[in-house]
Amino acid sequence: MRRPGRRAPPGGRRRTRMGDDAARAWAAVEALGARPESRAIRPLFAADPGRFARFAHRAGDLLVDLSKTSVSDAALAALLDLARACGVEARRDAMARGEPINATERRAVLHIALRAPRSAGFRAGEEDASAAVHDTLDLMRAFTEAVHAGEIRGATGERFTDVLNIGIGGSDLGPAMAARALWREGVSPLRAHYLANVDAHAWEALRPRLDPARTLVLVASKTFTTQETMLNARLVRAWLAAALGEERVRLHLAAMSTNLEATGAFGIAPARVFGFRDWVGGRFSLWSAIGLSLALALGWEAFARLLAGARAMDEHFLSAPLERNVPVLMALVEAWHVNALGYGARAVLPYDERLARLPAHLQQLEMESLGKRVTLAGTPVARATGPVVFGEPGTNAQHSFMQLVHQGTTPVPVDFILVARPDHPHAESHRALLANGLAQAEALLRGRSAEEARAEMAAAGLPEAEIARLLPHRVFPGDRPSTTILLPRLAPETLGQLVALYEHKVFVLGALWGVNAFDQWGVELGKQLAGPIGEELEGGVREGAHDGSTAGLLEAIRREQGL
Ligand code: F6P
Repeated sequence: MRRPGRRAPPGGRRRTRMGDDAARAWAAVEALGARPESRAIRPLFAADPGRFARFAHRAGDLLVDLSKTSVSDAALAALLDLARACGVEARRDAMARGEPINATERRAVLHIALRAPRSAGFRAGEEDASAAVHDTLDLMRAFTEAVHAGEIRGATGERFTDVLNIGIGGSDLGPAMAARALWREGVSPLRAHYLANVDAHAWEALRPRLDPARTLVLVASKTFTTQETMLNARLVRAWLAAALGEERVRLHLAAMSTNLEATGAFGIAPARVFGFRDWVGGRFSLWSAIGLSLALALGWEAFARLLAGARAMDEHFLSAPLERNVPVLMALVEAWHVNALGYGARAVLPYDERLARLPAHLQQLEMESLGKRVTLAGTPVARATGPVVFGEPGTNAQHSFMQLVHQGTTPVPVDFILVARPDHPHAESHRALLANGLAQAEALLRGRSAEEARAEMAAAGLPEAEIARLLPHRVFPGDRPSTTILLPRLAPETLGQLVALYEHKVFVLGALWGVNAFDQWGVELGKQLAGPIGEELEGGVREGAHDGSTAGLLEAIRREQGL
């Protein structure tokens, strides 16, 4: 079993008192993790019939069951000490005060202001952030209602029936995920489509389904410089111009961005630009103007309910004591898995097809935030940070990667997301879905011993030699951790609560690990290299500019293309 990497703290630097407390708290957590019984879960249930009641917590409408993990009472106490020693509450409060906690970009982090009432009074420096948020929400609402009422129409006078959101990363994943989760027949006169990949096969697949005369195009980009988005925006703009005439294209365009100069240069009228501020990180921007496609496709009321759901989770996070604060507890469980037990990955399995894009959204939210190797102070981190996050909807996942989760060599903690009541009339299907989700979690916990596997095969009449041959393959180790999140129903407010829960979990982990969860310098280098490589694909490979592999591949592609 891989042990978590532990490096000595950077030498020579005088530690702060908080640093000393944190180091001691980490040492206590890691010492508990090193005990022989630290991975066992079944004995915790055997010893405590009340474990579920004590480890399953309510936050808003969600029930979050942390009992199927090896966090014992002693481990929980040590983890809560860790949260205190790392100053989680003080950092949370600094975020809420609008302090520039995104230190490398000198920015505040105020996505919580996006879903708070105007009266909440959030401030970012001199600015009344709450007022700015609500001024934009008012514009978004007026625009949405005018489109729905047919007061804003396309160039030919037809009503809009489709909205195409062009954006990538945070300007795509959150809205695309929520639109898929919440869209129902008849909720609005518009269908939403999402174009992210610079691979024009994506656009070619979408194009035949759209009528330019009835399509409203939203260019979603915080920076309005992202290569993929700008290339796709130009393709789609050309398609509109070819069908409607260059001078009428603007009637089909709107933008969501912080870069008003660039939106103007692209030909988008200022009245059609919905702004937000640099204190909204891309992966936290679903609640900002970036969510406009949701308002258009789901209706304003649904968008407002989504924000209200997130707000309810914010209130819980901002006020609940650490020991009942569910995002904090989820983060502590993750720290236990990653740092005390050395589990370097986590799977997310929503047992609801409508949440199929939730794993993709969480991959960006968690890995772009927590995939960091230096602390806020710029020194190497002392222990492992963000785990690999991946997932697929259940039950499909059971027929792909769950084999490894049950019997592979390294445990992979799982988040099971269950929805108690469906929005379809097929009770038997929903029972099967829920039963499978619960069974997976139970199987991971319970495992199957050699005696059980032997008895099962004997009962099936297998000969002794065959039983002996198959036995090792049919044993499940058990004691594999999972968290189950139960939603009463999938609705705008419960989805808002769920996504905000994960956002705050990320915040807490950033505080525990001492990293900046709000920058993403790691995506820059590849972007920079792509420019010159693109030129070489067209004009020829520069001598000595690349490693042998990249140069060889460039040549091979050019040969295939007959260049
Ligand atoms: O992938 C890097 C990134 O900067 C993400 O953080 C962001 O969500 C995405 O690109 C899109 O950026 P923008 O909204 O500026 O186009």
